[in-house]
Amino acid sequence: MRRRNDLWPMSQKMTVGVIGAGTMGSGIAQVAAQAGHPTVLFDTRQEAVDKAMAGLKRTLDKLVEKGKLPAETAAGILGRITPATALKDLAGCGLVIEAIVEDLGVKRKVFGELDTLLAPDAVLATNTSSLSVTAIAAGCTRPGRVVGLHFFNPAPLMPLVEVVPGVATDPRVADAARRLMSDWGKVPVTCKDTPGFIVNRVARPFYGESIRIFEEGVADMATIDHALKVIGGFRMGPFELMDLIGNDINFTVTRTVWESFFHDPRYRPSFTQQRVVEAGWLGRKTGRGYYAYDAQGTPVDPPAPDKDVLLGERIVERVLAMLINEAVDARFLNVASAEDIDLAMTKGVNYPKGLLAWADEKGAGHWLAVLEALHAEQGDDRYRPSPLLRRVAREAGRLR
Ligand code: NAI
Repeated sequence: MRRRNDLWPMSQKMTVGVIGAGTMGSGIAQVAAQAGHPTVLFDTRQEAVDKAMAGLKRTLDKLVEKGKLPAETAAGILGRITPATALKDLAGCGLVIEAIVEDLGVKRKVFGELDTLLAPDAVLATNTSSLSVTAIAAGCTRPGRVVGLHFFNPAPLMPLVEVVPGVATDPRVADAARRLMSDWGKVPVTCKDTPGFIVNRVARPFYGESIRIFEEGVADMATIDHALKVIGGFRMGPFELMDLIGNDINFTVTRTVWESFFHDPRYRPSFTQQRVVEAGWLGRKTGRGYYAYDAQGTPVDPPAPDKDVLLGERIVERVLAMLINEAVDARFLNVASAEDIDLAMTKGVNYPKGLLAWADEKGAGHWLAVLEALHAEQGDDRYRPSPLLRRVAREAGRLR
């Protein structure tokens, strides 16, 4: 029988390699070293490795200053991370996590090289957000040992990791990766290798439907943001969140998901967002997005929201119905278990509740009625209810 800590084909003592010393790679290296692994942080650019090592030292020093970490623990974590600029330095790793540029050709080439460099039982993971794990693995002679490990930014703080087996991944590798993530103190969820995995698929209507409500003139952005925060309980409104993420990044994710779903209207991008990107209004980082910001990133003269409660409730119902429909459809298509779908949204993007549990509060029939009314009014296939929502509503059952 397998023991709880038997992580074959990985072990808790193995060296972990991280490829790409950018935003995600340096955060993932910190997580691996915090979990006690000797860690090699590799980048082709010396300056990227230097910058990452200096950044990690700053982060750990701050934690020590704040009293959140003993000085010797911080020194231990940093001491376990070895910078590298030659791929061969990764040869002894039991697990390598790739976090380089989001380009299938470049990733496949790196995986092909790792495939010959590493021991046959070493595991190769990709942190890709939008590419197919199966396609990345296809560049290897042993695609069975390739798995997606999708961390969220900032990796040391965000608990969620989406574990994504590709079509050819050995189930034992995916299981071991999931258990390893738990041992690292993360919250792993397992999902099918489908566009956007769980979070970037299910979250699309938070932005898309909100923009649509704005485009129809139902409410302005400040009102939509206010309603989703105050009535919906979301930490940030969609427009301020898009400004924080960057409209260029958010638009690219939306567009990629839509294209990957062969232009399913449910994921259709909007002209409104395309135009703000074209204008260079990328959000807080450029001082202008949907709102204007000062140098500190504080909104300048934010417009006052309309606080009409009935209007706010209507907005929240519409966005929530679309989010719930996405979560239900992900369940219907076996993208992940109901529990993992709800965990993904609470632990990856801080939703106040899991969407399936949230749906059960008013019942599937309520959300089906909201969607059917929208579908009838708009005649747009983006509002088609998931077959699972129909079934659960018919049977007056529960989604969780
Ligand atoms: P980044 O641009 O901050 O860092 C990428 C690093 O990879 C750079 O330092 C670059 O020099 C290096 N690099 C590029 N090609 C390389 C190669 N062939 N070999 C070694 N190093 C190479 O990018 P970021 O944001 O850290 O993203 C990395 C990956 O993580 C991408 O696949 C992205 O989709 C994914 N991701 C990003 C998230 C984010 O919020 N930034 C969240 C989750 C996943």
